[in-house]
Amino acid sequence: MKRTHHCNELRPAHIGRAVTLEGWVHSRRDLGGLIFIDVRDREGRTQTVFDPSDLPPPLFEQAAGLRSECVVRISGKVRARPDGTNNPRISTGEVEVLASGLEVLNPAEVLPFPVDEPEVAAKVNEELRLKYRYLDLRRPEMTRNLRLRSKVATATRLFMDEQGFLEVETPTLFKSTPEGAREFLVPSRTNPGQFYALPQSPQQFKQILMVAGVERYFQLARCYRDEDLRADRQPEFTQIDLELSFIEREDIYALIEGLLQRIWKTALNLDVPTPFRRLRFEEAINRYGSDKPDTRFGMELVDFTEEFRASQFKIFSSAVASQGVVKALNAKGLADVTQGQMDTMTEYAKAFGAKGLAYIKVEGGEWKSPIVRFFSDAEKAALTSKLGIAEGDLILFAADQWLTACEILGKIRLYCAEVLKAQGKLVIPPDRFDFLWVVDFPLLSFDKEQNRWYSSHHPFTAPVPEDIPLLKSDPKKVRGQHYDIVVNGVELGGGSIRIHQAEVQKTVFEDVLQIPPEEIKLRFGYLLEAFKYGAPPHGGIALGFDRLIAILCGTPSIRDVIAFPKTAKGTCLMTESPSPASARQLRDLHLEVKAAKKE
Ligand code: AMO
Ligand code: AMP
Repeated sequence: MKRTHHCNELRPAHIGRAVTLEGWVHSRRDLGGLIFIDVRDREGRTQTVFDPSDLPPPLFEQAAGLRSECVVRISGKVRARPDGTNNPRISTGEVEVLASGLEVLNPAEVLPFPVDEPEVAAKVNEELRLKYRYLDLRRPEMTRNLRLRSKVATATRLFMDEQGFLEVETPTLFKSTPEGAREFLVPSRTNPGQFYALPQSPQQFKQILMVAGVERYFQLARCYRDEDLRADRQPEFTQIDLELSFIEREDIYALIEGLLQRIWKTALNLDVPTPFRRLRFEEAINRYGSDKPDTRFGMELVDFTEEFRASQFKIFSSAVASQGVVKALNAKGLADVTQGQMDTMTEYAKAFGAKGLAYIKVEGGEWKSPIVRFFSDAEKAALTSKLGIAEGDLILFAADQWLTACEILGKIRLYCAEVLKAQGKLVIPPDRFDFLWVVDFPLLSFDKEQNRWYSSHHPFTAPVPEDIPLLKSDPKKVRGQHYDIVVNGVELGGGSIRIHQAEVQKTVFEDVLQIPPEEIKLRFGYLLEAFKYGAPPHGGIALGFDRLIAILCGTPSIRDVIAFPKTAKGTCLMTESPSPASARQLRDLHLEVKAAKKE
């Protein structure tokens, strides 16, 4: 008998039917002489009952000996559960299958960790989960994540097809074009001493596809970046990557808003209001200290540069004298931080480059702080009114260069929000999604160490047309036609309108980024060449697909939504990669390993 139903299918309407289920033994309980086996498959689980009074003893004993996670086929008749034993937490909870047949399709050894108890499984150390990933993925929460991922991929493809996009695959054996993150190199056997690189994104191919006249391209593209890993970064990850010809920024905003609206409806049945808010880069930094602000709560940064220009408190006035700023934020209700927490916060701020973290605690009607004695009455009045200071508040300051001061307080703002959340003083509903576009980024940023300009996003981003004349004279002022899409403080994606004239692209490479001409030819020659043969105006964007799914699943780590992710060290614990190559492989690839051997 093959399976007649899946394990999330039986309802009271099936009572009396003979059925066969196949799946894994999720749990076994022996109660009052009966044996209850919950059978689980991808869809859900169903309770089966083995009653010794109407089963041959060997069959009953076999059921009694079943271990968790062995694979079984169980036949029997559907019946209503006895009064008071319904399980409202599962959709099959009103019925059970009274077993008459049992086949063990494959036994299972004792598991390294349980997969049936969410509370226990959640505490299992992640290394163990990754080593036995196939068991980890059996956990219903993980199955749910994979299912959602697949559903969103399908919704994306349908939406893009409706919008007239072609899905085109681009090579993953690419050419080394170092920019941004470090690349993975692949030695060529047939071309001794030469290497491919795995693409950081399909950026150049998608632009060339525009020259090829594809007009609307998209791809669920695999990207590779050899960077330091964190919860939201993997060495290989997926983008919803797209590019369009004959469009402007507004067209991209509308397209992506439509796509995200569709995805949120499909995945969470939520209606996302559009258009999304827009925040200029400068305003995002000024108010939230971040170019990916979490706007679900206030605690905004307030500027006090003018108020402290001539202050007796030298740390502030001297910061202003050297063209810096003084910024503060009010963490309402956090005056009860312990000295330990204050020290942790200060160390945290220092890790981001702060010289210190001045503070005022407002407790018992008093300002408790090592620094207020330096403040004038006018300074105190300005703080009170602009920060709305009241009993129980904690005021935190950063005095430094503009971007540094803002970014430090931006990190502290998020840190305070976490503390307030843990104390129950800040509550954010789980179904709140604050989408916004961050726009008007500076095209270029200055690298003090290397004493040169580099692209804030990538070198293909077009300047805002009226800023083009400033490219050589005042690069700092040039705004890029770049946009980032942000949700709840996560950078979901970014893109830009591109440079499509070979001349402008050459100016950016040569005069602004000061890449030597030979190197430009070597790295980007084919792109500049392509631009000579009728490149349409174009632009695009890429959304981090793993981050998107993590947000939809409500998990902070993209490892939870990738079937086989790497650890923070870039290893796969299940397959034990990376691993050494044999002498023969190395010889074939014309390689010699010099690095000191690890024991
Ligand atoms: P960018 O480098 O901003 O743009 O990447 C786009 C989005 O990809 C996601 N992302 C990552 N996700 C997981 N792990 C990583 N290591 C990782 N790195 C990036 C982020 C990010 O916002 N070619 C351009 C796009 C364009 O201009 O069209 C690009 O790749 O969510
Ligand atoms: P100090 O006089 O060095 O003990 O500093 C007095 C207070 O100011 C301490 O709480 C420091 O953490 C803080 N502080 C020092 N430098 C800065 C700065 N650049 N921005 C904000 N606070 C600072």
